[in-house]
Amino acid sequence: MKITKICCIGAGYVGGPTMAVIAQKCPDITVTVVDINQARIDAWNGEDLDKLPVYEPGLDKVVAEARGRNLFFSTDVNKAIDEAQMVFISVNTPTKTYGEGKGMAADLKWVELCARQIAAASTSDKIVVEKSTLPVRTAQAVKDILDNTGGGRKFQILSNPEFLAEGTAVEDLLAPDRVLIGGDPGPEGQEAIEALVSVYAAWVPRERILTTNIWSSELSKLTANAFLAQRVSSINAISELCEQTGADVTEVARAIGADSRIGPKFLKASVGFGGSCFQKDILNMVYISRSYGLTEVADYWEQVIKMNDHQKARFAKNIIKSLYNTVNGKKITFLGWAFKKDTNDTRESAAIYVADHLINEQAQITVYDPKVSEEKIYADLEYLNTRSPEEIRRLVKVVYDPYEACLDAHAVAILTEWDEFVDYDWQRIYEAMLKPAKVFDGRNILPHEELRTMASAYSPSERQY
Ligand code: NAD
Ligand code: UGA
Repeated sequence: MKITKICCIGAGYVGGPTMAVIAQKCPDITVTVVDINQARIDAWNGEDLDKLPVYEPGLDKVVAEARGRNLFFSTDVNKAIDEAQMVFISVNTPTKTYGEGKGMAADLKWVELCARQIAAASTSDKIVVEKSTLPVRTAQAVKDILDNTGGGRKFQILSNPEFLAEGTAVEDLLAPDRVLIGGDPGPEGQEAIEALVSVYAAWVPRERILTTNIWSSELSKLTANAFLAQRVSSINAISELCEQTGADVTEVARAIGADSRIGPKFLKASVGFGGSCFQKDILNMVYISRSYGLTEVADYWEQVIKMNDHQKARFAKNIIKSLYNTVNGKKITFLGWAFKKDTNDTRESAAIYVADHLINEQAQITVYDPKVSEEKIYADLEYLNTRSPEEIRRLVKVVYDPYEACLDAHAVAILTEWDEFVDYDWQRIYEAMLKPAKVFDGRNILPHEELRTMASAYSPSERQY
């Protein structure tokens, strides 16, 4: 079957960029991305390409090329579903905040709503593609709903998890390590798989398009994130050991990464991993393992999260200890709020938790991030539900100039590895800070030796890891 019309439900960090690249690379396919969030759709349709709802390097060019030609953004969900041969589900699947599985399981409310809406809106057969990250065996639930409420239409379910990382989404989509497609082993399932393979084959070499059964595909996504997060927690565990022993974690990472069996990527010690998915997907895997009675498997993976929580708390505690065990009323400047560089996404960012810890101690936090707005920073802190909006605004200030942010600060903490931070005039910052001026580098990006040997050296330049 030749696909000529695609609908994607969910115009978020995954749906937007993924569909923009499909549209760019497949000009003969009409791609309509739909969402219930009118403001988000308006922003995708906006004139100003600097104000797309997702900031990703290179995305503006892709959208500029395809939008209005064969890429459309709309809130008319039913119409787009009905017109398409293939419907992607790319909605959010956050950790449940209520009831059974609260704090662990994935909340599949939005996925189920999509399945029901696809069933109701379809007047022809469809291929339904799970793009969202889902617990293994979700496809069964999606199929049950479609088969029972779809008015006799035929639905093939595919799993096609997304592996893009934020900040490099366009790059990752244009040249993926692999595309994974899972489907039913029967002939109709294989035909559906082939239809999706043909879409990607427009730009991805065939040997990089892997096809599997549907459960392997669903589970591979959770497993990939668990392995990646586990590497970060492993190197962060070693960072603590380094601090006690005089070993240097960057040197250890280089030494072990040179072993081709280990490899150099994902070995950067940090203030802790953030992002919308690592924690949620591991918690989800822990929950699934426990629900099958696999206690050891669940405990093993849960440790990755515990180590990450420990790393975030440890960073905050080190700041307090180094500022003579009190930060009450002291100005601490955060450079960076996003969970990594080159994104405006702040979900689960370590900065939120470090700030919360320091605010508990009545510190005055000033934040500068090149891409994150004041509203977003306050919303992140309010979401924690640990204090009133008034108290947050009293203790946290957001400024849009880094030098102003550092003025009269007792300490500067690097929370995100934005490139521009390295190029700042650190002599000027030093002069503007209260003394002794302290820098806590949660990303290990600054030239610490240089900072220490400046005319009037930071005293001491705290190399955190
Ligand atoms: P997101 O919150 O940015 O976007 C989801 C969008 O879906 C929202 O705009 C929301 O309004 C919309 N939506 C929800 N229910 C809807 C409905 N019934 N009809 C229409 N629209 C609806 O989420 P995201 O970051 O794009 O993640 C989506 C999925 O992709 C998640 O399962 C996530 O785990 C997975 N994933 C995310 C990333 C990433 O880097 N963010 C990478 C790989 C996979
Ligand atoms: C991650 C995966 O890399 C993607 O493959 C996956 O598709 C995505 O999750 C998802 O499912 O959402 P992302 O969270 O966007 O992508 O970003 P990463 O580059 O993986 O970084 C995650 C966190 O780990 C960041 O806070 C980053 O700063 C931290 N990190 C990463 C480290 O602390 N050290 C490292 O060496 C690497």
